[in-house]
Amino acid sequence: MNIRTVIRFTWIVVCCGLPLFKGKSEELASSTHLRHPVRMAWSNQGQSQVVVANSNSGSLSLVDLNTRRVLAEQSIAESISDMLMPGSLDQILILDDSQHGLRMIHFADNKFDRISSEFVPLAQNPTRIVIHPDSNRIAIASKWSRRVTLMSKGSSGKQSSLWQIEQVIDLSFPPGELTFIPNTNNLLIADAFNGMIVMMNSETQETYMACQLPVNNIANLTFASKPDTSTVWLSGESLNSYATTINPEVTWGVLMDNQVRSIPLKELQDPRRTSMHLGSVYGMGDETGPGGDPGRVLVKSDGALITALQGVDRVAIRPQLPRSYTDRILVGDRPIDMLLNREETMLYVLNQFSDSISVINLQQFKVVHEITLGPQPELTDSDKGERLFFDATLSLRGWYSCHSCHTEGHTTGLLNDNLGDDHFGSPKRILTLLGVHSTSPFSWLGKMNNLEDQIAKSLHQTMLHRGSIDDKAKLIATYLKTLKAPPSIHHARGNFNSNFFEVGKAIFRKEGCHKCHRPPHYTVPDTFNVGLKDEAGNVEFNPPSLRGISQRDTYLHNNGASSIEELLFERKHPDPTRTPINAADRSALIYFLNSL
Ligand code: HEC
Ligand code: HEC
Repeated sequence: MNIRTVIRFTWIVVCCGLPLFKGKSEELASSTHLRHPVRMAWSNQGQSQVVVANSNSGSLSLVDLNTRRVLAEQSIAESISDMLMPGSLDQILILDDSQHGLRMIHFADNKFDRISSEFVPLAQNPTRIVIHPDSNRIAIASKWSRRVTLMSKGSSGKQSSLWQIEQVIDLSFPPGELTFIPNTNNLLIADAFNGMIVMMNSETQETYMACQLPVNNIANLTFASKPDTSTVWLSGESLNSYATTINPEVTWGVLMDNQVRSIPLKELQDPRRTSMHLGSVYGMGDETGPGGDPGRVLVKSDGALITALQGVDRVAIRPQLPRSYTDRILVGDRPIDMLLNREETMLYVLNQFSDSISVINLQQFKVVHEITLGPQPELTDSDKGERLFFDATLSLRGWYSCHSCHTEGHTTGLLNDNLGDDHFGSPKRILTLLGVHSTSPFSWLGKMNNLEDQIAKSLHQTMLHRGSIDDKAKLIATYLKTLKAPPSIHHARGNFNSNFFEVGKAIFRKEGCHKCHRPPHYTVPDTFNVGLKDEAGNVEFNPPSLRGISQRDTYLHNNGASSIEELLFERKHPDPTRTPINAADRSALIYFLNSL
């Protein structure tokens, strides 16, 4: 178990200048563009309308559920990563991930008033916003800067409806999903990739609990509002690093399991718990149907469990727990969010790639309408590749997509035993694909020179895909080529210092690191023996690119080092017999690596 410490840090930020909106003012609702919605909330008109936040177009859509029409669409930002509507206010809070800030949009009389809106800069890459059940505090997760920002509502005069930053908390891991624990000041924060959950007091920033769950890609972390508010519900994939990508182990969900877990808070806080058996586990994939990439979870007041299966375009419904069977209803492409009406008779499912809302009548148990958010243009090869990347139906029986292991192009950081090295029994760390286009050759052994060939191999031998391969590999390669390496932690936090960088760079050269990790991509096309041997007897490996290395949390092909310090100063990479690096050079070298 690898539990990392959470660094505490408080930072008071003053709200500064408001960047100008880049959006267009004309009516967008009927225009042709890709919207890619991410979040849906009831508008302040009761339950007849919803507001939808669109990530790709950076716009908000107001949709009338009765007439099934889009009443308005307003451009707000270049792109949006999340949205929150604090119930009692005529306000929409938007995470603007291109300008890295919070936009507060006034919303009244069915109009998005972007002229009088406000902007507060946030820690880089804000990805998720949640509100405390008492509505006075919000928390925002910023992935690559590894920060959580806490904000509260201003209490006097003109600022009364504005949200102001209280503090910014530095974490040692990239936060993904998060939630306030009802009736307390505590926050639960999940790692964006690998299944770690931390419980932290949002006022003192004291960490009460850190737990490594055998669940990666946590895509839901919420408390059911009824009947039991003390149980946390999470969903994700569970990769078994020692299972292989052979037919029976994939078919029966031994390699990758699709899970929803309900964990009573008491159990989560119990020091005697074992993470393997924490809470109740509800399998989503089984012999009755596929369950790849479970996402949002809703629990009805009668206990029925509703889960959006993002990878296989279905909503799974278990009528009553703990009944074991799951019914599935086919919806649009990549169901990313869901809302249930007050009477719990209608379910609205927001579909990211089809830019639509599927309306499900739960009594009839079927989709009764499909509401489109607007016309889509013809898809480019990269758009098609993106859809394939997140499509779990490409894998045998729909257990996983490329994204299940390479989370949004990055990596869960876990080991997986596939034929990337032409051998079973020698699991390797899943490589990040962010920036992959410039780091040929591919795989740890550096055997594949061409990205399309590597992807064809992944489709064939890791996904056990049964359809045509080459056309899909080409499209996925086009998509992967658009993905950039993540920002270094120093850049993401705005701490980059070029003097320190230059000092570290000189040490990097002095130590001869550049011979195998050559700028600008900090890799070379050859393979080297650096004193490691895998279970198949291989001793020569291709140096991974060091760009974005500060956004990885384990190192080496076998996850053999859990910090860069351990790798360089204890294991003395690349040569265990070399003279130790002195203390001053060590910190300069680490600074440099954390700036790449
Ligand atoms: C079950 C987990 C898993 C899934 C699913 C998966 N991969 Fe991988 N991928 C890996 C592992 C592990 C490696 C490293 C293998 C090695 O080098 O031996 C890897 C390596 C790669 C590489 C090489 C990267 C580099 O820098 O050398 C590419 C490209 C890649 N995968 C693409 C894909 C694509 C595209 C899909 C979907 C079609 C996919 N993978 C599905 C686990 C997975
Ligand atoms: C002789 C070539 C060589 C030299 C010199 C070298 N490396 Fe490496 N490096 C490698 C190889 C090969 C790997 C991958 C080893 C493995 O896990 O199989 C690696 C892995 C790493 C990793 C881990 C990357 C990851 O994603 O797991 C880091 C960090 C790293 N090197 C930094 C350095 C630094 C800093 C220096 C200089 C002190 C250095 N390397 C010198 C070849 C080299």
